[in-house]
This record gives sequence, C-alpha cells and structure tokens, in this order.
Amino acid sequence: MDLSKVVLLLLGTLIATCLGAPSISLIGNSLLDSNGIYFISYDGVVNINSFQLSGVLTYGNYQYAGWYTSSRAAVLARRQLPSGSWSTLQLPHSLSTNDSHNVVSLGISPADGKIHIAMDCHSTQLYYTSSEAGLATNGASWVASRFGPITTTLGNLNIGTVVTYPQFVVTPDNLLQFVYRSGVSGNGATQLAEFANGAWANVGSWASASGTYGSPNGATSPARNLYIHGWTYRSSRLHVTGTWREQSGGVSCNSGGLTNHDTVYIYSDDKGRTWKNSAGTSVGSSGSSPVNVNSPGIIVDPLNADHGLMNQESQAVDSAGQIHAIISYVPGRFGQCVSSYQNDRTASGRAFHVYRNTNGTFTKMEIPVALNTVGRSQIIIDSADNVYVVMPFVRVVTASKSSGWTDWTVVYDGTTTGLNAFGEVTLDRSRMASGILSVFYQVKSSGSTPSAVRLIEFNVSG
Ligand SMILES: *[C@@H]1O[C@H](CO)[C@@H](O)[C@H](O)[C@H]1NC(C)=O
Ligand SMILES: *[C@@H]1O[C@H](CO)[C@@H](O)[C@H](O)[C@H]1NC(C)=O
Repeated sequence: MDLSKVVLLLLGTLIATCLGAPSISLIGNSLLDSNGIYFISYDGVVNINSFQLSGVLTYGNYQYAGWYTSSRAAVLARRQLPSGSWSTLQLPHSLSTNDSHNVVSLGISPADGKIHIAMDCHSTQLYYTSSEAGLATNGASWVASRFGPITTTLGNLNIGTVVTYPQFVVTPDNLLQFVYRSGVSGNGATQLAEFANGAWANVGSWASASGTYGSPNGATSPARNLYIHGWTYRSSRLHVTGTWREQSGGVSCNSGGLTNHDTVYIYSDDKGRTWKNSAGTSVGSSGSSPVNVNSPGIIVDPLNADHGLMNQESQAVDSAGQIHAIISYVPGRFGQCVSSYQNDRTASGRAFHVYRNTNGTFTKMEIPVALNTVGRSQIIIDSADNVYVVMPFVRVVTASKSSGWTDWTVVYDGTTTGLNAFGEVTLDRSRMASGILSVFYQVKSSGSTPSAVRLIEFNVSG
C-alpha cells in the first residue's frame, strides 16, 4: 500500500472516530393543544401511541396532526412548514371510551390529495372520514366542512365491526394502503386494504391466527395474532417485522402474563400480496394463504414468552434496503420469568436494535440505556443511515452508521430539560426527509386532568 493510501485510511478512521454518534439540535417546541384529553389505560395515553401511523404527518409544504381534546372531540391540525402557526378543526366525532388503543390515525392519498382519518376503535367498528380532494396540497381553509360524514365503514368498503390499530401507508407507486387487525388480541388476523382510483378495495389477510405454538414449558396454544412493528416501503420492497401473541397464557412461565414471543421478519415485492422470509423463500399469499406462526424461516430473533417482550414497537429501513427494528424486553440476566409485565419491564426492561445484514442474517445489540418505564421506543433513520431512537420521555439515543451502529449515545434527555413528557411518543416519519426529527408527545398529568399536546423538533446532523 502506498503512503497516500495509508494517510487516507488513517484520515478516514480519524474522521469516523471524531464524528461519533450523530448529534441533534433543538429547533423548537410548539403547543398544539393546552387541554388534550388525559387518562392512562393499558399503560398509555390515547393521544400518543408509538403504533400510530400516523399521529403526525408531513405532506408537501404542510404538517398535520390528530388527537382528542378535553371535550373528547377529535381534532385535526395543520400548519405550513417550516414554522407556520397551527390551525385546528374539530371533527364531528367524540372519543367513545377511555381506551388508549382508540387513537386518531391520519393518511393522505397522493393521487387525489385527500386526507383520510381512521380512529376510535379497539376490537370494535372504526370511525372513518376523508376530506375533499386536494385539501392535502391546496391550502384551502382548514374547516371541518371539507371532510365527509363520519362512517363506520372504510368509505365504500365494509371491514366489519372488530377493528384495531388503523394504519395508513403510501406505496412507492402512490397508492394509499390501510393496515389493521381484525379479531382480538391472541386471536386475530392482520389485514390490508388499498385505495386506488378513488375507492377502497380489500387485499386480504396477510398473517393469520392459525397454526400451533408449543412453548419451551411444553404447553401449546391454538391461536394468536401478529403485532407489527411497522409497514415500511423502501424502493419497491415492503418490510414488516413483528411479534406473535398467543391466546393461551399457559405458554408463559407465569401462566398469566402477556404471551408475546419471537421477532418475525417478512417482506413483499408486490405491495403486500405475496410474502417471503429473510432467505427469500415464499411464505404466504394475502387472502388465500396468509403467513402463520408455523411459516418457515420467519423468526429472526427467537425469544420465548417469558420475557415481557413488547408488541408494536417500531421499525425503519436504511438506504441499502435493510430493516432495522427496536424490540424491548427483560433480558435473561435479570431473570428468566417475568411475573409482572409492568413492574418487571419498568425495573429491568431494555431496548434492543435488531437489523438485517446484507447477507440476510440479523444482528442484535442492546441499547445501553434502561427503559425505566413500560412503554415503547421509536426508531428512525437519516439520509446517511445513522439511527435515532426516541425512548420514552423523549430521550434521544443515536448511533452512527460508520460505527456499525454500536456507538450509542444519549444526545437529548427530556427528563432533564423539563419536558415532563408522559412516556411513549410518536414520530413524523416523513419529516426526516428534510433532516428534521419531529416528536409528538403529551405532557404528564395526574388523574384525569387534561394536559398539553406538543411537538418538539430537532435538526439532525447526519
Ligand atoms: C453475515 O454478515 C454478518 C455481518 O457482516 C457477519 O457477521 C456474518 O458472519 C455473516 N454470516 C454469514 C453466514 O455469512
Ligand atoms: C374518562 O376520562 C375522562 C378524562 O380523563 C374522565 O374525566 C372520565 O372520568 C373517564 N371516564 C371513566 C368512565 O373512567
């Protein structure tokens, strides 16, 4: 090797070392509602859940958000980017029950510029509406009369009366998809519908309750559901990670805990019609033969039901088309049998970064920051493939691509800056395209006292 190459190599190493984990800098913190509804159910608040797709969303020159205000009315907000003031409107719908599952989810169909809202469901009918065409882009006045009536169908499509986790995602060819669970926890199917040419159509179930799960303790469970960490397109490929939850508590060591087990990865190259495992083997077709617990080669990080594994954490895909997920649980060094999901996760829960290598294997690394609560963390990736994890209470932990995502560093800590965030947050996943980390959170309150719903934003250095 000649001298110039050696110098270059040393310089490269030096730069990589000096750069370290990416930093972030605070841009602002805006108030969307000083009186958001507040109650705690299932360890969460209804206005902010990590599984919302999306609670806050950027499209074109506007940013949108949805939540319930203290009167229980569903509120939608819009502002012009980068820093316009927020306008709000109230939809003619009130939160039906104090259940933190019943989030407001926003989606936009690029073909016609309609804004779609699905909300207020937990194994019940959903409530849905969509706006007049063009509202997402034309800046027309922000008034509720631009939205159609609230229906318990998905527009023209009847999706039944047992719906949970409404999620909207745009495909690479600009169709809007709607992902949800039918059935119930421990016995449910994940479903897909698609909005094309102004109408919703059913694609079908892509992961079902069928099959048999036998736990290490010898017990079996007859049914389950797949909880997903996201539904993410990169180029033309759709990536999904998730975890199963069994119907039978007998498969967990304490016979009563939440029976979440294993981390699953599947992908689709035809927008969710057919599915492959990480090795590229076909494992399912939506509608006719959905993926199930016995599908071969779909488990990429095995874990039995005894560790308080979280469902619906989060995922993102890097520029090389590799999936990254955050999962969290109580590691074996703290004990092999979680007896209280809440207490044990709070005392000794840890978040892990799990990602796919280009050869199809997966690597997992523990993020060296204790959870200190039950709730979920959010992962997002910048244009240079650096990773940002927003842990509960708006603790931002980053790792650089150049370190192989090993140099985890806390770069912002909301517990020391007076945010007083409740816990779990949700991100504006489309805002990162502008190099901005946008975090939607609600302030911690007591009892049922309403509290502020806020958006904090940071520039990322990557
Ligand atoms: C796959 O890639 C990872 C990361 O580079 C490496 O650690 C692992 O040994 C590789 N495995 C195989 C089977 O090639
Ligand atoms: C539901 O939550 C609201 C707001 O926090 C509270 O005022 C009300 O008492 C709760 N209702 C029930 C039935 O718990």
